[in-house]
Parts: sequence; C-alpha cells; structure tokens
Amino acid sequence: MTSETIAVAGDHAGFDLKETLKSDLQEMGYEVVDLGTHSRESVDYPDFANAMAQALSDGRAQRGVLVCGTGLGISISANRHPHIRAALVHESLSARMARQHNDANCIVFGGRMVGIEIARDCLKAFLATEFEGGRHEQRVAKMSPR
Ligand code: RB5
Repeated sequence: MTSETIAVAGDHAGFDLKETLKSDLQEMGYEVVDLGTHSRESVDYPDFANAMAQALSDGRAQRGVLVCGTGLGISISANRHPHIRAALVHESLSARMARQHNDANCIVFGGRMVGIEIARDCLKAFLATEFEGGRHEQRVAKMSPR
C-alpha cells in the first residue's frame, strides 16, 4: 500500500483511457483523485490541465496522469504552469527518463495514440522511477525560475 495520491484528468478523447488507468492505480493501492471529465461529451482540455495544476499546487495529489486525444493539447496547457513538468510519452523508456532526468510530476498520454498495454507499461515505469537529482537538479530548477 502506498500513501501517494495520484490525480487523473482528461478531456472526452482521453476519457476511456483515463478510466482504465484510474482503475489500475486503485488496484495498485494508490489514492486517486479524479478531476474529470466524467463522460465522452465534448469538453475543453485546458480546463482539465488547469484542474491538475491546481490539485498539485494545493497538495491534493503528488503526481498526475493527463489524457487527451493526442496528449499534445493537455500537455502544452499543463506545462504553462511553472510547477508542472508534464511529459507526453509513447513508450516506457521516455516515461522512465522523464522521472530520472526531468523530475516529471505528470505523465501524459494521447488516448487516440497509444494502446492500453503501452500506456500501462509507461505508467508503471513513471511511478516506479525516482528522480536522479545531481546534475539534473539545477536544470530542473531553471525550468521554473522564481
Ligand atoms: C479533441 O478532439 C482533441 O483535439 C483533443 O483531445 C487533443 O487531442 C488536443 O490536443
């Protein structure tokens, strides 16, 4: 059992994958905060990226999973918030490197782009990998200057 809380969010095009990954996370023992959307009805992906940014800044969750159709719109939107480091991935090496080198706090998927088993593989790698720190600390710090 883990005490970490993971937020999940996505638009209508990410709804099915978000729901699947939400169940997976719960089965893995994570607390999950579902920020929506809650159906396949058309919505605007920036609203869910912004909800994720809020949930991570107010401490409701420590990391997040974002999904839209391509993963592009929601990652661009999320990364406009200085405290968000959202990594769009399509294979697990990128998911692992996003943690090791970039200290990514959100993993992003294109629900229309990746199959469920690829997404699961990426999510497991993302959750299991620690930030390496060291030389990467100052680079990560430079992404969000104070
Ligand atoms: C929605 O149709 C689609 O544009 C959205 O999910 C995403 O792919 C945008 O980047």
